[in-house]
Amino acid sequence: MGKRTLVTTAWPYANGPLHLGHLAGSCLPADIFARYNRMIGNETLMISGTDEHGTPVSMLAELEDRSPKEIVDEYHEIIKRSLQEVGCSYDIFTRTTTKNHRETAQEFFLRLLKHDFIYEKIMEMAYCPKCKKFLPDRYMEGECPRCGAEGARGDQCDECGRTLDIMELINPYCKHCGTKPEMRKSKHYFLRLTAFQDRLMSWIETNKDLWRPNVYNFTINWLKEGLEDRPITRDLEWGVPVPVKGKEDKVIYVWFEAVIGYISATKQYFAEEGKSEAWRVWWEDPDTETYYFIGKDNIPFHTIIWPAMLLGHGRLNIPTNVLGNEFLNLEGGKFSTSKNRAVWLNEYLKHFDPDPLRYYLSINMPESKDANFTWDEFQRRNNEELVSKLGNFAHRVISFIEKFHDGEIPKPEILDEKDLAMLKEIEISVDITGDSIQNCEFKKAIARVMKLASFGNQYFNEKEPWKDKATSKTTLYVSACIVRSLSILMAPFLPFSAQRLWIMLGYEHSVHEQRWDSAKVHVKSQPIRDVKPLFRIIQGEEIAEQRAKLDR
Ligand code: MF3
Ligand code: ZN
Repeated sequence: MGKRTLVTTAWPYANGPLHLGHLAGSCLPADIFARYNRMIGNETLMISGTDEHGTPVSMLAELEDRSPKEIVDEYHEIIKRSLQEVGCSYDIFTRTTTKNHRETAQEFFLRLLKHDFIYEKIMEMAYCPKCKKFLPDRYMEGECPRCGAEGARGDQCDECGRTLDIMELINPYCKHCGTKPEMRKSKHYFLRLTAFQDRLMSWIETNKDLWRPNVYNFTINWLKEGLEDRPITRDLEWGVPVPVKGKEDKVIYVWFEAVIGYISATKQYFAEEGKSEAWRVWWEDPDTETYYFIGKDNIPFHTIIWPAMLLGHGRLNIPTNVLGNEFLNLEGGKFSTSKNRAVWLNEYLKHFDPDPLRYYLSINMPESKDANFTWDEFQRRNNEELVSKLGNFAHRVISFIEKFHDGEIPKPEILDEKDLAMLKEIEISVDITGDSIQNCEFKKAIARVMKLASFGNQYFNEKEPWKDKATSKTTLYVSACIVRSLSILMAPFLPFSAQRLWIMLGYEHSVHEQRWDSAKVHVKSQPIRDVKPLFRIIQGEEIAEQRAKLDR
């Protein structure tokens, strides 16, 4: 029997559409991983949703003079639709404003409160005398006390990724009016992170060789400095109300509440399936593995705060692995929703197919270092690699069968050394690609798929089936075996093209229901159909049009 694998992606804030950075750093690697896990027979659940509370949403609402509800309703739909269109195979993509989530988060809070992992304390809190309000999180900016970067926010510095205490910022100012805040006393609930220091340390150490070095090092460095308790409530209106009598005017800190979304989404998924208790094995059975795909700015929340919360809760699985990706840059600069500097996924999808983007972001994934999205490189990868290598090989083979073998995949005659070596190469590619995905090395995995296509092209050239009539049947048989295998290996990365190729080969049903190892199975002699090129050339003008949008 397969394993039970829970795959999660970071919940994007519903304060804008999704951009390619979200896709490259979180949704796409998770989708590849989830699709592969299904194909190897693991019971797999892929979950996420929009993160709809907190200052990213409330600040936009104030800026645009709209209600937060209106904003999150709009962006939830846009984000959800574009994820679906780009082929991300979520089993559920929900939101943090559901009743189920609010109740799950409040219950969690109360449970930690009861166990004394949450306690109340009076703290000094920044207050803007001009705006007459407290300045939680993004309402205040200043210099980062750790790395000195300007424009660090009250709860986190984007530059070094460290989570901050609001009082630590150097030269703080109100983001709205620029005024220097004053200090006011305010009573808040704190998460007793100090209680988990030792347990987290020994747990992290066991992951040294399993986790990516960036995630491991970031976490261990923070733990070595020593954890401090953190306030987890805010003086805001927009959020999950603190479930304590007399405290309803405060809300739970967006990060504390959003991570609980992983549980509420699992619950909701099974409730909708009519199995309201089934979520438990996904969180309580230690054999369930949980993978979190996130951007590097989310690392501390997933390797320290969320595990501490889970340990405090007492019965729930802590992460198997946290795949923190580096950033995707845009033409050398940063993607930014709040600065409106991005390639938006919904915009992209109006002009191009999903698979070329999935390809480019897979082969150029910000796995171990920052990657760069440029329109020129997108075009080049599409035209020179997807069209000229993968698409060309598949099309050559299939159209040759159409023209010279009566549209039916031929039966092999005598297999020579080259044929046998090629068939062996298929098996090697299936194993290497699979192992690479399992290890979350997606660049390596897709590169191996492309390599198989190149081997195929080379083999086809050497065998010259257009000249050598005697061996043509065998050559086309072996080539069709490669194409068949490619369509299965492509499936996690290029789900739409993989399916089209599968149909062209004459198969019924879905390539996504095939087992991974069946990519080693040879083709049967069967009629091909719907022969069409898999990918299209992207023209210079199309690229120029997109690039022009960025300069505006
Ligand atoms: N909304 C956060 C961000 O975009 C990610 C939240 S992940 C969650 O950085 F798990 F907490 F929801
Ligand atoms: Zn102000």
